[in-house]
Amino acid sequence: MWPAMRKGKLIAVEGLDGSGKTTQACLLVEALRKEGFKAYYTCEPTQWRVGDLIRLHVAKAKRRAPVYEALLFAADRYEHLAREIRPRLRKGYIVVSDRYVYSSLAYQGASGVSLQWLRNINFFAPKPDLTLLLDLPPEEALKRKKGKLKATFESLTFQRKVRKMYLRLAEEEGFLVFDGLKPVETLHREIFKAVSERLSSL
Ligand code: TYD
Repeated sequence: MWPAMRKGKLIAVEGLDGSGKTTQACLLVEALRKEGFKAYYTCEPTQWRVGDLIRLHVAKAKRRAPVYEALLFAADRYEHLAREIRPRLRKGYIVVSDRYVYSSLAYQGASGVSLQWLRNINFFAPKPDLTLLLDLPPEEALKRKKGKLKATFESLTFQRKVRKMYLRLAEEEGFLVFDGLKPVETLHREIFKAVSERLSSL
């Protein structure tokens, strides 16, 4: 896993559904642009072909099929890298990806799929320069989703396992962990400060 990169920087934003990833990733991109950086927001699952297939599968499947899903997410990521991430890294952009490889390790890993196999099928994906984890209890994340449970990805028991997996990965891989319960603006300031401090040394 983790082939070498490139000119730009890749920042992955990870967390449970309802953790505020999308809001914080967008605010980070805006703030970086204001500072004069070329910055680009993108997300997984993508809007490309395999991304559509994933949404179709999640909407229709009666049962989860973690290995099949892991393969779909990896294929989607391959296209994501080819069409969006790599071209921008080559041009020197700071690419902020709302979910990336660690979503597969956390979600499919929490479904019982071997972490080593998940890493193997994602061998083509460069390691992010920085990974930000927005951590919060699943109960709170669920409240933000207005109590709506979408598919098994979002059941409380499963979300607890995903959170545990994220926290384990955070330790092993040195993520920057943030308290997702903090108000949006406070959290944004903390994230921007931490990212700015590290950018020069990446
Ligand atoms: P999400 O970004 O939360 O989309 P939405 O806009 O529907 O909230 O992603 C959809 C789901 O896909 C989310 O529950 C996490 C899951 N997922 C995985 O299980 N593995 C992966 O590799 C990725 C990228 C996402």
